[in-house]
Amino acid sequence: MKSSESEISEAKPVPAQPAGHAVVIAIDGTSGSGKSTVAKALARHFGFVHVDTGAMYRAVTWHCLQRGVDCNDAAAVERAMAGMQSEFRLSNGRIVMFIHGADPGEALRSEAVTQNVSLVARIPEVRAWLVEQQRGLLRFGSLVMEGRDIGSVVFPDTPFKFYVDADPAERAARRAGDGYTDQVTRRDRLDSTRAVSPLVAAPGAFFVDTSKNTPQQTAALVLAELKRRGL
Ligand code: DC
Repeated sequence: MKSSESEISEAKPVPAQPAGHAVVIAIDGTSGSGKSTVAKALARHFGFVHVDTGAMYRAVTWHCLQRGVDCNDAAAVERAMAGMQSEFRLSNGRIVMFIHGADPGEALRSEAVTQNVSLVARIPEVRAWLVEQQRGLLRFGSLVMEGRDIGSVVFPDTPFKFYVDADPAERAARRAGDGYTDQVTRRDRLDSTRAVSPLVAAPGAFFVDTSKNTPQQTAALVLAELKRRGL
């Protein structure tokens, strides 16, 4: 797999910061829990770069499906990934992963990708490579990074860790409301029981249950905790 960096010029550039001073806010949690909404709100609030790591696992899955690779076949997935050309670009305050020069866009949310992504995400070589890429994104400055293993594996030393969850029925309803078919409990089971970097609340993570909250209430809660932790 080949990867290089590139920054798209944009109307409101995120100030570049020396990596030593960059801050990471880690947002982990279950599918449909509302972690994306929180992450986007925080990135806007602080002017940090938003990174959706789920989209990266989806991009690798999409690439495999495009090539007719069976996502149950780890060796075939690894081979497809080795031949994949990727590039991370900063666009409108968020990182976009380009594959062979193109942004897969909405195709990342297709039913086929959603059904297969947990199979790809359990392959250790895929995780090792993506974790390395995710750490490298600090070159873009301070980050709000969302996923499943950000506080536990990717940036375990950040003091700013959150674990976001909601009732399963509420989460399935939110995904359906967004127009997506998503068996959230099946994915969570696969994501929580895999051998490598399963979905867990990292030690020190602040737990947020969004079941009964509006996005504004959740954002206020998280901002208050960040303030308490010194951000
Ligand atoms: O957040 P999402 O639903 O788009 O994530 C898609 C899948 O990627 C999810 O089922 C689990 C996996 N994933 C992961 O294993 N680790 C991450 N840091 C992010 C996502």
